[in-house]
Amino acid sequence: MVVKADAPRSVTILGSTGSVGTQTVDLVSRDPERFPVEALTANRNVTLLAHQAKQLNARMAVVADPAAYAELKKLLSGTGIEVAAGSEAVAAAAERPADWVMAAIVGAAGLEPTLAAIRRGAIVAFANKEVLVCAGALMMEEVKAHGATLLPVDSEHSAIYQVFDFERIDSVSRLILTASGGPFRAKDRAFMAAATREQAVAHPTWDMGAKISVDSATMMNKGLELIEAHFLFGIPEERIDVLVHPQSVIHSLVEYVDGSVLAQLGTPDMRTPIAYALGWPARIATPAERLDLVKAATLTFEAPDPVRFPALRLARAALQSGGGAPTILSAANEVAVQAFLDRRIGFLDIERIVEETLTALPHRPLRDLAAVREADADARRDAAGRVAAIGATAVGSR
Ligand SMILES: NC(=O)c1ccc[n+]([C@@H]2O[C@H](COP(=O)([O-])OP(=O)(O)OC[C@H]3O[C@@H](n4cnc5c(N)ncnc54)[C@H](OP(=O)(O)O)[C@@H]3O)[C@@H](O)[C@H]2O)c1
Repeated sequence: MVVKADAPRSVTILGSTGSVGTQTVDLVSRDPERFPVEALTANRNVTLLAHQAKQLNARMAVVADPAAYAELKKLLSGTGIEVAAGSEAVAAAAERPADWVMAAIVGAAGLEPTLAAIRRGAIVAFANKEVLVCAGALMMEEVKAHGATLLPVDSEHSAIYQVFDFERIDSVSRLILTASGGPFRAKDRAFMAAATREQAVAHPTWDMGAKISVDSATMMNKGLELIEAHFLFGIPEERIDVLVHPQSVIHSLVEYVDGSVLAQLGTPDMRTPIAYALGWPARIATPAERLDLVKAATLTFEAPDPVRFPALRLARAALQSGGGAPTILSAANEVAVQAFLDRRIGFLDIERIVEETLTALPHRPLRDLAAVREADADARRDAAGRVAAIGATAVGSR
């Protein structure tokens, strides 16, 4: 696709009320002439959604939760902004003719809308990693078949994208994903066993939504990213390493066969990778704090600890197993993380539920999206049963 840098680009933001979504709104609102807004979507935060729709003069605002429709309609009455509700309406919003779609819904709920944008050949800024984890091979086939452009927004994958030689993939020897190590990097298993929701979401370097914050605490986030990197860049699992780098300055690295290692650096501000995708192939200015390496002074690195953080091993095993294993991993993880956020299970139960679900269910090949949905639903059912079993025994006060 030939993309004219600096030309106006209409945008749709799926998940506009979330952490990535609001930061995208922030960037888009700085240049409304260049980035006219087609549609914004949320799950049920209608107050913020209506505010954003008015602020950006969006053509349409959609809530996934039908119960929130009346309120959204009321908030936008007299504005001329179209309103709709339901998960089909979210996918229909992605079908509207925006040049650029930010996929920033959390979890597998983003599958259909992301696919809708891909199927009309849009430029898709891709934050919603669970979608690639649950249906990676099929999604990449759809991207190819429809001539869509997938631009990673995860800071690690954006970093790799910026230094990856797509013309000479054979010259890439290794991808190195950096990880902050999360809030429990220096904590022992006894601490983690008693960890609260508040402790788990208190990320040391990034300010993010609740689910990804817990994923960072278990390091499942890095496991999901490893699977995401495999599908995005076509590099086998054994050539993707994880490196703990607590300062989150180096956002990831690519090693080439000659021993050269290229990296992208910056302050930990998601507006930088979002802006990279929003302006691509041009660069656009952001208010992100500039990187001052003298101030940063010391950058440190350590190997991930597989004993304290088994999630990484589970993700590698799921990718090696293939078929529906990553789908099961991600769906079980979504269920377990939500249960932890609802204080129904303990922090270490998350990895246990994911491992048990992965062991209990068959890893069938994923021939089509129906198979993905089935594997996803089976894993959710299995994991929910395990959550309920824990809930039936005393969980104490969380
Ligand atoms: N936050 C980050 O810095 C960051 C960095 C890299 C990658 N990511 C990835 O980006 C994605 C979004 O993360 P986030 O931190 O921005 O999440 P978040 O703050 O929880 O926001 C999620 C967004 O999705 C909407 N949503 C939730 N459930 C939905 C459903 N069933 N149907 C339709 N919309 C739904 C939410 O609407 P409501 O507000 O109405 O609930 C919200 O707009 C995740 O996949 C995450 O892993 C995030």
